[in-house]
Amino acid sequence: MDKFLIKGGVPLKGKIEVSGAKNSALPCLAAALLTDETVILHNVPYVKDLITQRRLLEDLGATVLTPELRTHKISATSIVTFEASYELVKTMRASVLALGPLLGRFGQAKVSMPGGCAIGTRPIDLHLKAFEQLGAVIELESGDVVARAPKGRLVGAEIGFEKVTVTGTENVMMAAALATGKTTIRNAAREPEIEDLAELMNRMGARIRGAGTETIEIDGVEGMNGAEHTIIPDRIETGTFIAAAAITGGEIEITRCNPSHLRAVIAQLGTAGVEIAELNQSTLAVRRSASGLKAADVTTEPHPHFPTDMQAQYMALMTQAEGDSLIRETIFENRFMHASELTRMGANISIHGNEATVHGPTKLSGARVLASDLRASASLVLAALCATGETLIDRVYHIDRGYEMIVRKLRSIGADIERIADSSSANAEAGQGV
Ligand code: EPU
Repeated sequence: MDKFLIKGGVPLKGKIEVSGAKNSALPCLAAALLTDETVILHNVPYVKDLITQRRLLEDLGATVLTPELRTHKISATSIVTFEASYELVKTMRASVLALGPLLGRFGQAKVSMPGGCAIGTRPIDLHLKAFEQLGAVIELESGDVVARAPKGRLVGAEIGFEKVTVTGTENVMMAAALATGKTTIRNAAREPEIEDLAELMNRMGARIRGAGTETIEIDGVEGMNGAEHTIIPDRIETGTFIAAAAITGGEIEITRCNPSHLRAVIAQLGTAGVEIAELNQSTLAVRRSASGLKAADVTTEPHPHFPTDMQAQYMALMTQAEGDSLIRETIFENRFMHASELTRMGANISIHGNEATVHGPTKLSGARVLASDLRASASLVLAALCATGETLIDRVYHIDRGYEMIVRKLRSIGADIERIADSSSANAEAGQGV
C-alpha cells in the first residue's frame, strides 16, 4: 500500500486548480445508462472511484472511450447484464447508483447490498422504499438487491424522503425519468451535484424541475437521447485547498472552482480567521488573517449548510485555532476516526458521542498515522503540512479515491510531500507519480 511522506512547516504559495466533482461525475456516469445514444462528459476527475464507476458501466456492457484524459464518451447501447457485482459494490458504495437507471430503462436491476463502511452503517433503505413507491418489487437474494418493475415500466409517484439522502435523490431522479406519469420528490437533497445531474438529464431529454430545491418534479418521458455535459468543480476539494492555505499560513489562489457551491464553508472558515476573497466567479484568493485562527463551532448538515465531507479537514484546521471549537457531526455516526490520529500528532480533542471539542492551539509534530477514509486522509495531510518534522500517512488509497493528483497539486504550491509507492503494487493512481 502506498504512503505519503510529508515534511511540514512550509507555507503554501501559488495557484492551484480544482478538478471536476467526484460526487457529480459518479451519478452523471450512471445516467448514461438511461439511453442507447452516446453521452459525452467533460471534466471527469481522474480518481479511483471514477475508474471503478467506469468499470461498472463496462461490466454491464456499455462502451466507455476517453478521447482525452478527463472526457468520457459513454454508449450504453447494448447492455448485457443488469447486475452490479459484489466486487464493485464492496469497493465503492456509489455503485448503487446503477439501480435507478437500470430499473428505469430496463425494468430490472440487481446490485449487491452495500455493507457498512468506515464512516457509518449507511443503509439504502430509503432508496429501496422509494423504488417500491414507483411500483418496483424489491427482493433480497443472497445479499443482492433484486429490483423489478412488474409492468416493465415504473409508475410516477409522490415520494417523501424521511431523511435527506444525496444518492437516494439521484437514484430516484434517474428511475423516475423514464417512468409513466409524474413523480414528485419531497425533502430532496439540494446539493449542487443534484442540480448538475438534473442539468445533464434534461439535456438528455428528461423533464426535471426544481433540482436544487426541496421539491423536485419529474415528468416521465418515453425515451432519452445522447448529450454533452461538463461536470461542475469539486467543492470539497476547493474547501480542502482553502484549509491547506490557512493551516500552513500560506497564501494561494484557487482556480476553476465555483465559490457559490460552498457558501457555508467560506462563511465558516471566514469566522475562524481565514481571509477568502472572490477574485472572480471561479477564482478564490486565500490566506490566514494576520490575527490568526480563532476557534469556531460548527454543525454538519445537508446542503446548503456545512458539509460532512469538510468536517475532518475543519477539525485539523481547528487544532491551530485559539480556543475550543465544538464540532457536531449529524450526518454519519462514525465520522471521527481521524480525531485519534490527529491526537497522535499532538492535537487535543475530546469526543462525546457525535460531538468533538478541539482544544487549540496545539503544536503538531510528525508521526506515523493511518488514513481511515477519504476525508479523514485529507485531514491528516493538512495536519502533516503544518506539523514539525516528518509524517508518514499509510493507506492513502483512500485519498486516491477522490482527490485528483493530490501529490502533484500540493507540490506545485510548495508542499514537501511525496508518494512512497509500495513495491508490491503498481501505483493504483495512474498518472499521479509523486
Ligand atoms: N441514509 C439512510 N438510508 C438511506 C440513505 C441514507 O438512513 O437509504 C442515511 C445515511 O446513513 C446518512 C444520511 O442518510 O446518515 C445521509 O446519507 P446520504 O444518503 O445523503 O449519503 P450518500 O448519498 O451515501 C453522499 C456522498 C458522500 C457524502 C454524503 C452526505 C456521493 C457518492 N457520496 O453519500 O460523500 O458524505 O452524500 O453529503 O455522493 C465523500 O465524498 O467522502 C462522501 C462520503
